Amino acid sequence: MTRLAIVSAMHEELAAVLALMAGAQQHRVAGREFAVGKLHGHEVVVVLSRIGKVAAATTATVLLERFGISQMLFTGVAGGLAAQARVGDVVVATEFLQHDMDAAPLFPTYEVPLYGLSHFKTDAALTAELELAAETVLQRGLLDASTLHAFGMQQAQTHQAQTHRGLILSGDRFVSTRAESQRLQQALPEALAVEMEGAAVAQVCHDFGVPFAALRTISDRADDDAHADFLKFVERVASRYSAAILAQFFTHRAR
Ligand code: ADE
Repeated sequence: MTRLAIVSAMHEELAAVLALMAGAQQHRVAGREFAVGKLHGHEVVVVLSRIGKVAAATTATVLLERFGISQMLFTGVAGGLAAQARVGDVVVATEFLQHDMDAAPLFPTYEVPLYGLSHFKTDAALTAELELAAETVLQRGLLDASTLHAFGMQQAQTHQAQTHRGLILSGDRFVSTRAESQRLQQALPEALAVEMEGAAVAQVCHDFGVPFAALRTISDRADDDAHADFLKFVERVASRYSAAILAQFFTHRAR
């Protein structure tokens, strides 16, 4: 039977899903709470990784070594980099890159030394499942009305939220100036969004040969307003996106 891990960095990104796991078995390992149980009838392990690449890699490794998971999903928020990645949109990752990895001149900038790789691909089949779920939720308006209302930001009300697929950047920095966001866009023009964990989990899953997929809702534009937008979004909206998209994801899955 498939045992799926569901990971977010912060409680605010997963609160609505964790609420559904109230009866689950709790295991404390490496300072994290792993909830083992069923979600919409499917066997899952749900955990908060904390923030940053090392915290995410530790969490992913514990999931793989101690909990015998066979697939990994990450869900959370990200800063939008590409113009089309607007607040309230969803980005499904096809690949990840660490934008703060630079061992030049020993290795090309962004390449993870001794892997010969800078881009770590997500699993095509799992990613397609996640993308279909996200598209269905956004197109059919399955986020409850109060979610977008609670959002209180103009963007989500004035445009139909979209699903995008492509490259997501990760690094141990909250990108909170337009100057830094523009530098990233110029250096890596195909990047859609930036966050702080995904590439680390992608690398660990690559090492273990376990399928990985990731979904990020755009909480801010990684610009001078990023800090305020991020806080407002995670407090009011983020976990409802995760809960709605995961509920849809599981309706298509065989048990
Ligand atoms: N996660 C959400 N917004 C982010 C940003 N602007 N930079 C890094 N990680 C983020």
